[in-house]
Amino acid sequence: MNTTFLDACYSKKTSHTPVWYMRQAGRYLPEYRKLKEKHTILDIVRTPELAAKVSLQPIDILGVDAAILFADIMIPLVGIGVELDIVEHIGPVIKHPIRTMQDVKKLRKLNPREDIPYLLETIAILKKELQTKVPLIGFSAAPFTLASYLIEGKPTRDFLQTKLFMYTNQKGWHALMKTLTDLIIVYLKSQVATGVNALQLFDSWVGTLSEDDYQTFVLPYTKQIFESLKNENVPMIHFGTNTAGMLSSFASVPCAVISVDWRIPIHKAWKEIGYSKAIQGNLDPVLLLSDFSDIKKQVDTIFSSLPKREGYIFNLGHGVLQQTSVENLKRLTEYVHKK
Ligand code: CP3
Repeated sequence: MNTTFLDACYSKKTSHTPVWYMRQAGRYLPEYRKLKEKHTILDIVRTPELAAKVSLQPIDILGVDAAILFADIMIPLVGIGVELDIVEHIGPVIKHPIRTMQDVKKLRKLNPREDIPYLLETIAILKKELQTKVPLIGFSAAPFTLASYLIEGKPTRDFLQTKLFMYTNQKGWHALMKTLTDLIIVYLKSQVATGVNALQLFDSWVGTLSEDDYQTFVLPYTKQIFESLKNENVPMIHFGTNTAGMLSSFASVPCAVISVDWRIPIHKAWKEIGYSKAIQGNLDPVLLLSDFSDIKKQVDTIFSSLPKREGYIFNLGHGVLQQTSVENLKRLTEYVHKK
């Protein structure tokens, strides 16, 4: 097994810099688009053989050092019966958005073996297939990002309803955060019990908050998630975008790795995070639509900005875009491996 990714999470020396890409299993791959002609994303997630196949595609095609479970951040909500759809080119759309304390109280607990047996089965298949290959990353959204979809009912730019709920219904907000925190802990523990080797917590949209509000309304819950999983003995990654203004708070949770986007240079981010944690990032995914010479230049800049090699995991600052050329991603992986 290629353990470079796990070793780097624990800041150990590795033979090469490990690489994986957020959204490495997805629409930029012709093999995935072919499956999508016949199945919706939720169908694929609910069919373990298909979900496992999609997770494995980038391992063989790109040569990356880790696999990520094919699912979506909405799956634990699907598990507890929240009515939603994942709409092509839009994202998650919730039938009855949460706007009151009564709505929050309707969310029930997750029982993974009954509610999401397909996901556990996918992990079991992947564990077998990956045995001699690479580690498997499990994941969940963090409470804020999950709450933003539940409250808005759909993707948003300004998070108006989310912030209004947070400011004007603080009791409702804290009840929602607590409910989601408990749900996420159960969800992640079930993934570890079934065999994932690492976990990433996606707080994709939390950068919309001020650092003060982050500390008051979000951080205690995120901290509780990482605390509750500390004894599971898998490295954990805390991911966010637009976190440059709150990085020391964002990084103050007990996890092994902090993932940063392209808005802050690695050397600046790492200094703020502290060198006892590993760091992941941070190429702008838009650059992948450019010529390889431009990509190479930026990769060189990233590497020349690294204060040390141990504890560095190469990734993008956010997910692979659909328009990305497979060839560029393949060449990028090889280029980083030779660095
Ligand atoms: O390869 C992987 O990363 C594993 C699979 C994965 C998916 N979603 C599959 C997916 C992962 C890790 C996610 C996480 C996810 N989903 C996040 C956190 C990461 C991030 O990008 O910030 C978020 C915010 C979502 C919610 C979501 N789901 C969005 C915004 C979209 C895109 C809508 C669109 O069509 O552009 C989705 C749909 C989705 N999830 C797709 C995939 C491959 C694409 C649509 C499809 O194939 O039908």
